[in-house]
Amino acid sequence: MAQKTTIIVGGGLAGLSAAIEAATTNAAMHVILVDKENNIGGNSAKATSGINGMTETGDSWEAFERDTLESGGGLSNESMVHKLVHESVDALQWLKQQDTTLDLSLVSQCGGHTYPRTHRCPPKPNGSPVPVGWRLIQALKQRFEQLDNASVRTQSRVSRLETDPNTGAITGVELNHNEMLPANAVILTCGGFGGQTQPLDQPDGTQTLLSQYAPNLLNIATTNGPWANGDGIRLGVAVGAATKDMDQIQIHPTGFVDPNNPKAGTKFLAPEALRAYGGVLLNTDGHRFTNELGRRDAVTQSILDQSSNVVWLVLTDTMIEQFGPSTAEFYAKRGFFVKCSSIDHLAEHLGVSATILNDEFARYDLHVDGKKTTDTTVSSVPDAFGKTIFPNPLAQGPEVNYWVAQITPCVHYTMGGLAINTDAAVLSEHTKQPIPGLYAAGEVTSGVHGKNRLAGNSLLECVVYGRTAGQNAAKYCNEKQ
Ligand SMILES: Cc1cc2nc3c(=O)[nH]c(=O)nc-3n(C[C@H](O)[C@H](O)[C@H](O)COP(=O)(O)OP(=O)(O)OC[C@H]3O[C@@H](n4cnc5c(N)ncnc54)[C@H](O)[C@@H]3O)c2cc1C
Ligand SMILES: *[C@@H]1O[C@H](CO)[C@@H](O)[C@H](O)[C@H]1NC(C)=O
Ligand SMILES: *[C@@H]1O[C@H](CO)[C@@H](O)[C@H](O)[C@H]1NC(C)=O
Repeated sequence: MAQKTTIIVGGGLAGLSAAIEAATTNAAMHVILVDKENNIGGNSAKATSGINGMTETGDSWEAFERDTLESGGGLSNESMVHKLVHESVDALQWLKQQDTTLDLSLVSQCGGHTYPRTHRCPPKPNGSPVPVGWRLIQALKQRFEQLDNASVRTQSRVSRLETDPNTGAITGVELNHNEMLPANAVILTCGGFGGQTQPLDQPDGTQTLLSQYAPNLLNIATTNGPWANGDGIRLGVAVGAATKDMDQIQIHPTGFVDPNNPKAGTKFLAPEALRAYGGVLLNTDGHRFTNELGRRDAVTQSILDQSSNVVWLVLTDTMIEQFGPSTAEFYAKRGFFVKCSSIDHLAEHLGVSATILNDEFARYDLHVDGKKTTDTTVSSVPDAFGKTIFPNPLAQGPEVNYWVAQITPCVHYTMGGLAINTDAAVLSEHTKQPIPGLYAAGEVTSGVHGKNRLAGNSLLECVVYGRTAGQNAAKYCNEKQ
């Protein structure tokens, strides 16, 4: 049998997962991972909140599935979500098999989740942080480089897919508009299109996908890298692929506003885990206005409803201790967090009266007390904004210090993309059947997240559907003469 080639377009978490599976499912397969950037990693390397996996304690398949479907608001595909959830435990195990030193033992409960199930890495013994996305890329990159017949080509932008004019089957890719690489199967793992928040893609007048599908979001800041430009969607559509939910864009409620460069178009993410440990949001008047642990779309909307789109994120030092002081110090060094030594100091920084903060914090802490004691009169008072989880008090303890940052909503994630099935096969717009030899996984696809993606479900999707894409591409190559 002649040697077969699978080309994977995009070296983020989905691409690496697909590449490793393609190479190990069929040892004789030649696997080439191409990426247009100087380094692989994509947006995957920027992830900090974590990757979801059902846990043994409290959680259940049903709860995880229900949270994901509810968040998707009726647009998610149930079979695709079922697969995502039921393969989550396996996905985490597989990651650890690729690198036995990978530690994903920190688990937090992020917005919209009814149980803690978002896994990330503990800091190094010397206290320095280990960002989860970067660590996962490092683990899989190392593993991929050890495989035979597997290679990486960077600075190689796939500019076109080639198909057989008779069968429509994939036959190769064009690189940088000038080089052809033949392939028996291609897996698109190019990521989403949230990195281009300008109207034009090219000086020649090509529109960005964001301006086509969500013109109201043009020119707002983004957390994405500029490489997230929708190439994969365009490549697929050019060979007849269907798309779905292209107008479903997630705005992350909390991007850090850099006081030294408040208008910067790309912003650092203030990870959701900050709110998971009890971080609260205050408007410019010093008042809470939302359930900080509500779903992303709801928190974002509540910020946009304030008189200013820039609001305050406030944490106590206890919360910072639980979140990870080394990561918080990193943000403080960049000027995102300012430390205040008392409520008075905090009030001064916010430009509001200390009475407002004292009242606001005391009201909040009633709920924390309610959880800790059996005093039913206290615990039966519901939070005005519907918050039900109160990880830490705001004003208790002898000397509470506060960490405060300015945050604003940013374009974060594109839920829509290429239409695939549960085999990760790309579907044709015309026939609704798979395009022979074309697979896709990760943010370039649609189907799992619907109207609103839950924290941690994207990295999980990359691993679950990336692995499936790699396995099925290898099988397809084997079966083909
Ligand atoms: C700041 C930030 C934090 C996040 N935190 C989390 C989190 O904690 N948990 C979570 O689940 N999700 C998180 N997300 C979302 C998640 O990181 C991404 O959705 C996910 O990593 C996408 O992975 P991917 O493999 O599909 O694409 P990417 O990781 O973006 O990789 C795509 C790659 O394809 C390459 N590429 C694109 N077009 C071409 C082309 N034409 N030719 C060659 N190469 C090409 C790009 O250069 C890039 O390297 C976060 C996102 C951001 C921006
Ligand atoms: C690469 O694949 C060929 C079969 O196509 C195989 O003979 C060869 O051993 C493989 N190379 C390595 C280094 O594994
Ligand atoms: C969901 O995906 C499955 C499997 O890929 C497919 O058979 C089904 O038609 C899809 N459902 C909807 C409602 O699109």
